[in-house]
Amino acid sequence: MPATGYAFDAYGTLLDVHSAMRVHAPRLGDSWTRLSADWRAKQLEYTWVRSLMGSYADFWTITEQSLDHVLAVHGHRDQVLRDDLLQSYWTLSAYSDAVPALQKLKARGHRLCVLSNGSPDMLHAVLGTAGLAELLDEVLSVDAIKVYKTAPEVYRMVTDAWDCPAREVAFISSNRWDVAGASKHGFHPIWVNRTGAPDEYPNYPPEAVISTLADLPAI
Ligand code: LAC
Repeated sequence: MPATGYAFDAYGTLLDVHSAMRVHAPRLGDSWTRLSADWRAKQLEYTWVRSLMGSYADFWTITEQSLDHVLAVHGHRDQVLRDDLLQSYWTLSAYSDAVPALQKLKARGHRLCVLSNGSPDMLHAVLGTAGLAELLDEVLSVDAIKVYKTAPEVYRMVTDAWDCPAREVAFISSNRWDVAGASKHGFHPIWVNRTGAPDEYPNYPPEAVISTLADLPAI
C-alpha cells in the first residue's frame, strides 16, 4: 500500500541545528563547527542515557546541559554567549529544501507531521519561524510520553495519531539511528544523507537514500 502520510524528523532533517552556532561563529572562532558537532552529539547522548535510565528531562533542559558541558570542555566561559547560543535554538534555520518539499507533498494531498524529541514549546516556536508549521497537520513531541527516540513507543505516536498501519507512512530523517527506529516500526524509512555518510544499522535499512529533500520519492 502506498504511503498516504509523511512523518518528518525535525532537528537535523528539516532544521539545521548548526545554524545556532553559525550565526555566532565570529565570537566562537574557527573551531565553531567542531563545537557545534560536539553540542549535537552530547545532546543526543543525553537523550539516550536518560531514556535508558528511565529519567526523562525535557529537550530544552538537555539542550542547555549539553551546551554547558561542551562550552566547558572547549574552555568558553562567556555567559552572554552561552545565553545567545541557546536563544538561537528557538530560531534555527530550516534547510532550503524543507518548505518546498512539504509544499509539494501537501499539494499531492498527503498528510504531514513532525515527530520530534523537541519540547512542544521549542517545536512551536522554531517550526513557526521557519515557515513549516502551517504545512503540518500534526506536530508530535516525545514529551507526551516522556521517553526519547529510538524507543518503539515514540514511533507508535504517529500510527496512533493517524490511526493507520505503519506501512501507510513514510518516515524521513537525516539521523541514521532514527531511520533504524522507523524501519523497526514498519514505516517506509527514508534517509536524508546530506553528508554522504557511510551506511550503518544493517538490520534496519532505509528504503531510499536521498541527499536532499527535493528528491523525496513517492513511496
Ligand atoms: C528530533 C531529533 C532527532 O528532532 O533531533 O527528534
